Amino acid sequence: MSDRTSDELPVSAGMPNDDPRPRGEDPVDSDEIDYVAPLEAHAASVADPNAKPILEVRDLKMYFPVKSSGIIRRTIGQVQAVDGVSFQVPEGGSLGLVGESGCGKSTTGRLITRLYQPTGGTINFDGRDISKTSARQLKPLRREIQMIFQDPYTSLNPRHSVGSIIGAPLAIHKVVPRDKILPRVQELLDIVGLNPEHYNRYPHEFSGGQRQRIGIARALTLQPKVLVADEPVSALDVSIQAQVINLLQDVQREFNIAFLFVAHDLAVVRHFCPEIAVMYLGKIVEIADRETLYNRPNHPYTQALLSAVPDVKQAAVGGRRERIRLEGDVPSPINPPSGCRFRTRCPIAQEICARVEPPLLQIGQRHKVACHFAGELGKHPDRPVTAPLLGVDDTGAPDPGATPSPLAANEPGYSDTWYDLERKTMASA
Ligand SMILES: Nc1ncnc2c1ncn2[C@@H]1O[C@H](COP(=O)(O)OP(=O)(O)OP(=O)(O)O)[C@@H](O)[C@H]1O
Ligand code: SF4
Ligand SMILES: [Mg+2]
Repeated sequence: MSDRTSDELPVSAGMPNDDPRPRGEDPVDSDEIDYVAPLEAHAASVADPNAKPILEVRDLKMYFPVKSSGIIRRTIGQVQAVDGVSFQVPEGGSLGLVGESGCGKSTTGRLITRLYQPTGGTINFDGRDISKTSARQLKPLRREIQMIFQDPYTSLNPRHSVGSIIGAPLAIHKVVPRDKILPRVQELLDIVGLNPEHYNRYPHEFSGGQRQRIGIARALTLQPKVLVADEPVSALDVSIQAQVINLLQDVQREFNIAFLFVAHDLAVVRHFCPEIAVMYLGKIVEIADRETLYNRPNHPYTQALLSAVPDVKQAAVGGRRERIRLEGDVPSPINPPSGCRFRTRCPIAQEICARVEPPLLQIGQRHKVACHFAGELGKHPDRPVTAPLLGVDDTGAPDPGATPSPLAANEPGYSDTWYDLERKTMASA
């Protein structure tokens, strides 16, 4: 085990201060770690209702071209990986993004870090739209928005020492003089709970958890305002996951970094994010504060996802413990279903679902849902709640006498008033 003790370590390292064990896993003896920090032990992040949004994404789209085979490769279709996503992340806050494999979580994260050029929509970062910023102008932006990748084994260059991996951004961006790079690297290693003297070791000399700590140190190097964490713990052993989550929470608090936290594990997001968005096939289907989403999900997809999470199962399914099994496979994003994209697997779908896309309607102070039959499990209405707002009848056919409501817009963030599903009127706090 490491020869460092918790007494020597900064508050910012990844374990509780009263933990008697050394922080950071030793490269040689990492297999000896037998401490499994329960996720429940984490101080959950708390949303600051007055925080300004540092990131505002509006109607974001990413379509990847599908090319034909052969010599002349023509575009024969498009993968609609992200299709009209809107959300906000407050300064120093964290938004969780969850959903099944292939729903567009990583693509959303990569768009925000501008690894991709969006097909459409805007990304407002700190008051300016960065969705069309040219490659040359992106350099200063790279300092402010950083990414932690899922796989700590492939995301670190095996030929570079840890010192050069963490120090490279400092040199490229000329943040500190050359002679100050090493002390800064050592400081960062200390912050993430690794031994500062190990700066000249190579990635293969570290365990998976330690490599992810290196990835976190690299992401912190330029003191970003936003960190996109793309499944940062899913490649790690369960015993190490909690330590890395703790570390991320500590650095978030200490440096006031806003997080977009991508995960398919609802239990992990629950402990990190005060607000969570659920994605299905390129769209957000439900977004709410943590308590609302886990205790009163209104979308059939969220209800099914939550029924599979052991620790939230009971609350999410209204006291019933059985798991909701979704039939069929996720449809192809090249040719998604008409209307509601979830309709091919939805247990309560009706005619309108195939005809009209449900808008992301605000139904509570901090709760939006995209479903014509939004309601708590077992309390879904018989008639579509959205029909009068969209100016259609119950089957989704246009209703000439109806007046569509602007309520049904897909805007980022929440308004002070919302549509009360039960009373079918507007409500406010
Ligand atoms: N560069 C690309 N070119 C073409 N299609 C892509 C590309 N990147 C992603 N896709 C497709 O876009 C869709 C969304 O992919 P994405 O990686 O964002 O999903 P995800 O939600 O992160 O899934 P996972 O949980 O498996 O990581 C998938 O259908 C994927 O095949
Ligand atoms: S809109 Fe229809 S298909 Fe989509 S989730 Fe709601 S009920 Fe199911
Ligand atoms: Mg992904």
